[in-house]
Amino acid sequence: MNLQHIEATPERGTVTPVPVVTRILAVANQKGGVGKTTTTVNLATALAACGKRVLIVDMDPQGNASTGLGVAADKRGHSIYQVLLDGMSLEAAVTRTLVPGMDIVPSGVDLSGAELELIDVPRREYRLRDAIQQARGTYDFVVIDCPPALGLLTLNALVAADSVLVPLQAEFYALEGLSHLMRTIDRVKRGLNPSLSLQGVVLTMFDRRNNLCEMVAADVRGYLGDRVYKTMIPRNVRVSEAPSHGKPVLLYDLRCAGSQAYVRLAREILQRENSLPPQPALAS
Ligand SMILES: Nc1ncnc2c1ncn2[C@@H]1O[C@H](COP(=O)(O)OP(=O)(O)OP(=O)(O)O)[C@@H](O)[C@H]1O
Ligand SMILES: [Mg+2]
Repeated sequence: MNLQHIEATPERGTVTPVPVVTRILAVANQKGGVGKTTTTVNLATALAACGKRVLIVDMDPQGNASTGLGVAADKRGHSIYQVLLDGMSLEAAVTRTLVPGMDIVPSGVDLSGAELELIDVPRREYRLRDAIQQARGTYDFVVIDCPPALGLLTLNALVAADSVLVPLQAEFYALEGLSHLMRTIDRVKRGLNPSLSLQGVVLTMFDRRNNLCEMVAADVRGYLGDRVYKTMIPRNVRVSEAPSHGKPVLLYDLRCAGSQAYVRLAREILQRENSLPPQPALAS
């Protein structure tokens, strides 16, 4: 992999090396089924559509991001398991996706044993961080899809990441789960990864006709203020259909409300990246 992005400047006919600052996002929430994988796949696709080079790292043994991108379990060559446990380089485990500019390191079936196997491995919390350094300078964004638990796989993601993106489904127990996650992020920040920050919270599967959704959204905004994105991802059947076709919803149906929301989310994230300092601190 190149450590620098060489960008042509056609008006002068010269080639200027442009150092790439890679942003590593962990998409995490210990609660299951809140839209982590959907957000990983579709936000990454929307970022790629904005001209960014993106790598998805599938850290979930369920392998939903890999399957949803058409990388079927029996067609996966190398996987993140070999990177974490066998010392394989990240580059060797990268597979292209059908989205131009977007690659993936797939999950593998053996990843379900990795939580236990990692316990005896040296630098067990840093395995992904050590491997991912290689991607810095090659991709604009690395987006890590975490499993629905706060075990060693998610911990590896939080230690490797610059920031955490939290998909949150607006439902009754959402705030309770969110404060638990915030405490975990804070602990990782104090111990293993001092530069970790909160990228933002995105409300998913939002239904404006549901009063509870509106109430929970207001509570979350009251708790975290502008760290909650203005963009909310609506509940949309096309979003849930797309993975069975092995495609991000942006390729399946670009015009549907779900695709358009992920495009708006990508824009909002890119705008914030340009206007905020690189490492906004977490509230204590
Ligand atoms: N905006 C949406 N509209 C409709 N369905 C959605 C939407 N977002 C996600 N879903 C569906 O909800 C289910 C859970 O989503 P997803 O797999 O992204 O959650 P997850 O947090 O990754 O789950 P897990 O914790 O099991 O990894 C999936 O069937 C997905 O297709
Ligand atoms: Mg998932």
